[in-house]
Amino acid sequence: MSLRALLPASCAVVEHAGGWPVAALHPDEARALGPVAEARRAEFAAGRACARAALAALGHAGAPVGRGDDRGPRWPAGVVGSITHCAGYVAAAVAPAAACRALGVDAEPNQPLPADVLTTVASATERRWLAATPPGAICWDRLLFSAKESVYKAWRPVVGTWLGFEDVELTVDPTAATFAAAIAAPGPFPHLAGRFAITPTIVITAIYVPAA
Ligand SMILES: CC(C)(COP(=O)(O)OP(=O)(O)OC[C@H]1O[C@@H](n2cnc3c(N)ncnc32)[C@H](O)[C@@H]1OP(=O)(O)O)[C@@H](O)C(=O)NCCC(=O)NCCS
Repeated sequence: MSLRALLPASCAVVEHAGGWPVAALHPDEARALGPVAEARRAEFAAGRACARAALAALGHAGAPVGRGDDRGPRWPAGVVGSITHCAGYVAAAVAPAAACRALGVDAEPNQPLPADVLTTVASATERRWLAATPPGAICWDRLLFSAKESVYKAWRPVVGTWLGFEDVELTVDPTAATFAAAIAAPGPFPHLAGRFAITPTIVITAIYVPAA
């Protein structure tokens, strides 16, 4: 687990690896989710449990985390945040809006993307970089995917518009464990900077934009 290490101290981060916590939903959260399969409810509840624990650390104990029309989390006033889950890992990060303008976190299995997905996710330039970069212990294609998901999660709540994979061009610095995203769509963030962490099983990415 290392999302904590990717984000500044102003963020509260709660993460669980090796299985999801069994957690009850706040009644408002259960209403926002609606009728879904049990596996989806468990995933959603684990993310909400992390989110509520992180909110408590910021002084918002007991606050439910709703769900917007865009399917993103709805945070209490004055808070920004982001949630992620994948097999064996779940996390939420929140920060005061006074300190943080945008926050996006994403976790993915450290496994290669299916080839047909890669052509959707990565540009020709990104695919050339992948071809020239030794894989080692890191699935760089999955890292690209995760970084673009973090970009979207940071972008969408602030800007309110869709971003396609083709709108974002990534440059990864494997040594510094950072990435830079150039965003072609109109909006306040032509560039976003992120950090990543790798475990044997999980790729984690995070974007934190400080308030001006
Ligand atoms: C929303 C999306 C980014 C989620 O990423 P994912 O890797 O599939 O799944 P994760 O488990 O990491 O994240 C899921 C969580 O993202 C959050 N999320 C969903 N929609 C969101 C939005 N519009 N804005 C911010 N966060 C959102 C939710 O908290 C969700 O969990 P929950 O439904 O249990 O609350 C992804 O499904 C998606 O729609 N992508 C299309 C947009 C995109 O990626 N464009 C290209 C990138 S530039």
